[in-house]
Amino acid sequence: MLPLTLASLKIVSMKKETVLSASTTTGNLTLGNFIGAVKQWTEMQEQYDCFFMVANLHALTTPNETENLKEITESFFAQYLALGLDPEKNVLFIQSQVPAHTELMWALSCLTPMGNLQRMTQFKDKSAKQKSILSGLLMYPVLMASDILLYQAKYVPVGEDQKQHIELCRDIVTFFHNRYGETFTNPEPFIAKIGAKVMSLTDPEVKMSKSDPNPASFIALIDDAKTIEKKFKRAVTDSGSIIKYDPENKGIANLMTIYSVLSGKNYAAIEQHFSGKMYGHLKVEVAELVIESLRPAQEKYHDLMKNRDYLHQLMKQGALRAQERASQTLKSVYEKMGIVC
Ligand code: AQP
Repeated sequence: MLPLTLASLKIVSMKKETVLSASTTTGNLTLGNFIGAVKQWTEMQEQYDCFFMVANLHALTTPNETENLKEITESFFAQYLALGLDPEKNVLFIQSQVPAHTELMWALSCLTPMGNLQRMTQFKDKSAKQKSILSGLLMYPVLMASDILLYQAKYVPVGEDQKQHIELCRDIVTFFHNRYGETFTNPEPFIAKIGAKVMSLTDPEVKMSKSDPNPASFIALIDDAKTIEKKFKRAVTDSGSIIKYDPENKGIANLMTIYSVLSGKNYAAIEQHFSGKMYGHLKVEVAELVIESLRPAQEKYHDLMKNRDYLHQLMKQGALRAQERASQTLKSVYEKMGIVC
């Protein structure tokens, strides 16, 4: 056995686990995406070797949402930066600028049974809404598996709804390893803390989604102050008046969750703060808190969007760094499969 030296111990302790996460460009990033994902990414960037991707190829599976795809992709990248993701600490990149994603997808799709893909809940839900079901929708989880496996990611921060796709990714790893030998790190879902799910403002029974056709249902991170105020004022709640956290009273619970995450106060402190006040007061104060919390990022965002050349320069740098890591994995996959490259 090799003797452990101080230097080798340092290398071991410095090795960070790899994290891959992304958001799909099917609309504008929402307060839900911020609280459930990007806010946590900004914390993770201090501890992990992080790859944060703008998933623009995944957006093609919902064709109605892709009319302004180029603009939305640039806007997402600028929002990642404005919200505090640091290109010096992480690899920030656009999925379509790293061709290895679609290349690995093809290799993995040739090992993935159709039945496994047809069983995915997201496929069943989304295909039920499409007149003619697109094969890209079926392949979505294989592309997602490629996104993860190319970087040998150990952790994938996802919402509960994406857990099934990570399980499928693990199955794909098994199919590959059984046939070609150990190649990939087996990923694990990294589920956000409880209470991090933000619900729609017009229907608090469903999660806030950027592709919701009713813009009143979500707060886009680039909404202006007046719009944010208006949307919160109209937020659907029950007809009660006492401000108390009750998970069954979904509208008020949602507003209190947003307030809690952004203020750092627990529910008891919030109840105390609003004691004797009406729902209207809560709505006004949540709106003010959201506006103030987003203000610095919005200012930075607008500056970045004025300088597209700089934005594209950063995209290119991120893509090069991502490609460097991704091409090592792809090379090893191709070698094992006997693909001449
Ligand atoms: N409402 C939410 N509350 C908490 N977390 C959320 N996320 C999304 N909505 C909420 C988290 O954001 C990350 C990126 O998700 P995505 O953009 O890839 O896709 P999504 O989860 O399907 O988000 P949307 O906004 O609902 O998109 P559409 O409308 O296209 O389906 C994920 O970690 C997700 O959990």
